[in-house]
Amino acid sequence: IYMFYFLRLNEVKFNYYCTHPALERCLFAIMVLMNNFPIGIFDSGIGGLTVVKEIIKTLPKESLIYLGDTARVPYGTRNKETITKFALELVRYLLKQKIKVLVVACNTMSAVSLSEIKKIVGEIPVIDVIFPTVSSTLVETHTNVLGVIGTSATVNSRAYDLHLKKKNKAIKILSKACPLFVPLVEEGFVNNKATKLIAREYLSVFKNTNIDCLILGCTHYSLLKNLFAEILGHKVLLIDSAKPTVEELKKVLEQKGLVSNKKPTRHFYVTDIHPKMEEMVNLIFDNNFPGKLEKINL
Ligand code: DGL
Repeated sequence: IYMFYFLRLNEVKFNYYCTHPALERCLFAIMVLMNNFPIGIFDSGIGGLTVVKEIIKTLPKESLIYLGDTARVPYGTRNKETITKFALELVRYLLKQKIKVLVVACNTMSAVSLSEIKKIVGEIPVIDVIFPTVSSTLVETHTNVLGVIGTSATVNSRAYDLHLKKKNKAIKILSKACPLFVPLVEEGFVNNKATKLIAREYLSVFKNTNIDCLILGCTHYSLLKNLFAEILGHKVLLIDSAKPTVEELKKVLEQKGLVSNKKPTRHFYVTDIHPKMEEMVNLIFDNNFPGKLEKINL
């Protein structure tokens, strides 16, 4: 099955290989089966579920396997070597589940470990969150002055700067690492005085600048969007990675002929579960979580 899957990803037409009608029917069945393989999505914690929510909205027939490394979150304060080691462990786990596409629903791993991830997945398409977010931000900006917030690893990697500048040299970027946001979100501190105070402090660098878009360069930050809007006002457009990433995913599934046509299955694996986490997951899905968290060992 995997051999045929790889041939298809390389756009090799099966018709060249099969002339017998029975063989053709058999290959057609395999193709349908492959299309119904799940999409693998992963993050260091529950932030990647903001991408999953968008996938379910846009591609409701797709089966999913989500993996969040909640036992070791946050990743964004660690060095490249450790982040990549953790990232590859998550990817290997997902590859064992026979996925058809891989979504890196984490800015930190997209910024720091993408080339290493691509090396081990072979032919399976990999969608990261940075590339699609950059393209969609460049359509929105009028001032060509952008803000980027993310984990320390993401901001220090300068991945957003490099991608943005590659597409438009005139872009000015103001970046700010906000390492406390991920632990606050994982702890359920969303509508909380301390979080508001910290957000005001972090975002003060954007006051009196002419940024017109702020890239939320971390999938956890979508949960703090209302707070950011309250602080920065309506003149700054907040751009999170979920929508552009899922648009890119949809495009790739269509291009590769991998769109599913069956009733979906959805699995949500995490490496640790605590009560606060379930509260946050319910908040992400507006109390409509389409599954349950299952604890796994990597
Ligand atoms: N959601 C991850 C991101 O997008 C958080 C990384 C972390 O664990 O620090 O960067």
